[in-house]
Amino acid sequence: MRITVKSGSLSALRQSVPAYAAFEGNEQTASLLPHAWATSGLGKTVRDSGFRGGQGEQLFLPNGQGWAVIIGLGKEKDLSIERLRRFAAHAARRVRASGRKTLILPVLVHASLPSLEETAQALVEGALLSLYRFDYLKSERAPETKKAIEEIILVVQRPGDAAYARKGAEAGKVIAESVSLARDLINGPSNLVTPTALADEARSIAKQFKLACSVTPFAQLKRLGFGGIVGVAQGSAHPAQFIVLEYRPAKARATVALCGKGITFDTGGINLKSAEKMIGMKYDMSGAAAVLGTLKAVAALKLPVNVIGIIAATDNMPSGTAQKPGDVLTTLSGKTVEVLNTDAEGRLVLSDCLHYAKRFKPDAVIDIATLTGACILALGTFAVGLTANDDKLAKRVEEAGTRVHERVWRLPLWEEYGDLMKSEIADLRNISTTGEAGTITAAKFLQVFAGESTWAHLDIAGTAWADKERPYVPRGAVGIGVRLLVDLLRRWS
Ligand code: BES
Ligand code: ZN
Ligand code: ZN
Repeated sequence: MRITVKSGSLSALRQSVPAYAAFEGNEQTASLLPHAWATSGLGKTVRDSGFRGGQGEQLFLPNGQGWAVIIGLGKEKDLSIERLRRFAAHAARRVRASGRKTLILPVLVHASLPSLEETAQALVEGALLSLYRFDYLKSERAPETKKAIEEIILVVQRPGDAAYARKGAEAGKVIAESVSLARDLINGPSNLVTPTALADEARSIAKQFKLACSVTPFAQLKRLGFGGIVGVAQGSAHPAQFIVLEYRPAKARATVALCGKGITFDTGGINLKSAEKMIGMKYDMSGAAAVLGTLKAVAALKLPVNVIGIIAATDNMPSGTAQKPGDVLTTLSGKTVEVLNTDAEGRLVLSDCLHYAKRFKPDAVIDIATLTGACILALGTFAVGLTANDDKLAKRVEEAGTRVHERVWRLPLWEEYGDLMKSEIADLRNISTTGEAGTITAAKFLQVFAGESTWAHLDIAGTAWADKERPYVPRGAVGIGVRLLVDLLRRWS
């Protein structure tokens, strides 16, 4: 995909297909955004069509020699950077469906929008992410899915703005490609996206950007005392992989460790899930995918922060060698855990990751995981569950989430919740005594292993998969977390 920036008015380009943005009118009609509108000569046609400019409303119409697309932004007072991502997404999908190859987007300027650079970034992210498809496993592609946009042209009004827009567009492209990598890994089935495949992906990112990468396979993990990972992995035929990917730029201002849950398939283990609940559990490595995507983006963007990715990759299988309810594990930290439910496996593998992270003396540790079904009950599919032992870090995460529209909602970590995770015979149990507040009790478990680290935990169980298509998220993997973490790291200093 080629992305270029030009200056002038949309119509002056005399190329197909320009996307005009329109606000929802108060009466019958929509009002197109001024600079696009004045010169396009489309006004009457649009008015006659009954187009209202509601959010996502679309009109595809002849325009001189070619075509134009008009996209509704909704009411002007509701304009936001998120509306603009959606604008670009609707425009991109509509133009692709038409079979045309070039999409022309205006870099809009408005009091409700951030800088030109951020606006350009949002447009590119919205367009590229909306065009994402997971189709490489189909032997024959339908004619419809062969359609592809080849070029996106961003148009700024003043020539002096082009450089800013170019910078934003470049970042948007890097970030969208990193989200797409995460989506590919998540959408990929567990027979293909195995723990070793995740390790290979980490190695390939390391090679591309000259990062340090170490992969420790199952046999060694056993010897080295990674009891949490080994407990989960011992039932599996695929050897678990513990992956560490280190991005260390020359002038780093801080170090942030990112831990990802990489359960390539969660059957529940001996506490086997029902057929219904097991469907979709290939997505249980969405945290690991987010970490890999983020590492790729921060390296490509050359951010001045050390970022250490730590991933525990394994599937969770029942077998003759699998752990059983009541087994006690000694984790890497030395703390013992009574495993009363083998389906609460994410916290077991993450406990070793969080403990391991301490050796990098990070300024912050953030783990990301499809950890609890309870998170879906509490927050549904619109908010990531956040827990943190540090208010400043929590605020940073919340603000990043709001900016990129990967919104998070913080839950408490009060001591009483932790009491529910005490075992009679070991230091901890892996499920609570009451089953209540499952997202918080899981986080209380993790908190023990985060110890003194400045730590935040993101539960993405409800947000990592989209059952319904959204403007820039096709059905399937969302790739959630990448944009949030990259935004957070870009603003770290
Ligand atoms: N991977 C699941 C979390 C999950 C469950 C995500 C359902 C999406 C839908 C996790 O490993 C798990 O199974 N958690 C259990 C914990 C319970 C046994 C305490 C859960 O949430 O049911
Ligand atoms: Zn599970
Ligand atoms: Zn799981």
